[in-house]
Amino acid sequence: MLFKQQALLRQKLFLLGSLAIGSLLYLVARVGSLDRLQPICPIESRLGPPHLPEQIPLRTLQYKRGLLHEIRKGNATKEQIHLHNLVQQLPRAIIIGVRKGGTRALLEMLNLHPAVVKASQEIHFFDNEQNYARGIDWYREKMPFSFPHQITIEKSPAYFITEEVPERIFKMNSSIKLLIIVREPTTRAVSDYTQVLEGKERKNKTYHKFEKLAIDANTCDVNTKYKAVRTSIYTKHLERWLKYFPVEHFHIVDGDRLITDPLPELQLVERFLNLPSRISRYNLYFNATRGFYCLRFNNVFNKCLAGSKGRIHPEVDPSVVAKLRKFFHPFNQKFYQITGRMFNWP
Ligand code: A3P
Repeated sequence: MLFKQQALLRQKLFLLGSLAIGSLLYLVARVGSLDRLQPICPIESRLGPPHLPEQIPLRTLQYKRGLLHEIRKGNATKEQIHLHNLVQQLPRAIIIGVRKGGTRALLEMLNLHPAVVKASQEIHFFDNEQNYARGIDWYREKMPFSFPHQITIEKSPAYFITEEVPERIFKMNSSIKLLIIVREPTTRAVSDYTQVLEGKERKNKTYHKFEKLAIDANTCDVNTKYKAVRTSIYTKHLERWLKYFPVEHFHIVDGDRLITDPLPELQLVERFLNLPSRISRYNLYFNATRGFYCLRFNNVFNKCLAGSKGRIHPEVDPSVVAKLRKFFHPFNQKFYQITGRMFNWP
């Protein structure tokens, strides 16, 4: 009897053991076959990028990059353009200025948004007589291909200070959205000077010191004929624009904050453009070597702005800086009042 029970137990144990081994073998084989089926998915990408507060927003982002990149390279056929219903659309928003305010950084960062497509080059349609005479179809043809639901954005900082531009843009689209990125006016003027200085040096030409250009030697007052100074009188230029567009059509971007902490500024722009919030911390990372935030499109593609952005400024006589700041102060106050955006400029 005992012998019979022991034999039964042994049989049961054998059965259970075979079942367990069978399941184990099945699992090993299954995992193996799964791995063979998905060899291109590395472990890191399954877990998501480390130390990132938010996930990469959209698959469509990659899709958009891929297709639009091909088109830009000239590799897409007419059929593909037609098939994907791609169009060249007039801009629904323009970064009109201000030169050296961070216009390139703003455009590139907005282009991270899946619903935004940038015109890479400055088109200078409205400020350049020859271009303007070419007509609106010429302008449209300068625009990148996009999907119909996307919006095209261009930037030409000369628009902000050119007399004829507000009326011309109004004639094209009276409900267009206008972005103006500003920096503390004296810093912006020095940045403007630095760009011109670099151009001269490249051609082995000499150039005046900033102090000499910014201060009138006869009167010792600020030289308002100097373009870098005039451009920084933001309110004067804005007032010309306000003859055509109501103030709600403008959004002021803080260019100094775009340098140190870009995301909140970009989120304000997303809201102004009525776009869902899509640009995330994932898309912007601080590059210590460069000293600026750079752009991350996805796990493989990221970029920093060109070296011509973020130049080292020459040292300026502190008394000249103080004089300029005092000069800009009342204009700044007016600018805050009109735009409703306060800055802590000295
Ligand atoms: P500086 O060269 O004076 O530092 P614009 O594109 O309108 O010409 O503006 C250039 C300015 O953009 C640069 O001025 C730089 O400070 C600023 N900027 C803002 N964000 C930047 C970024 N992420 N990378 C490089 N430059 C940036």
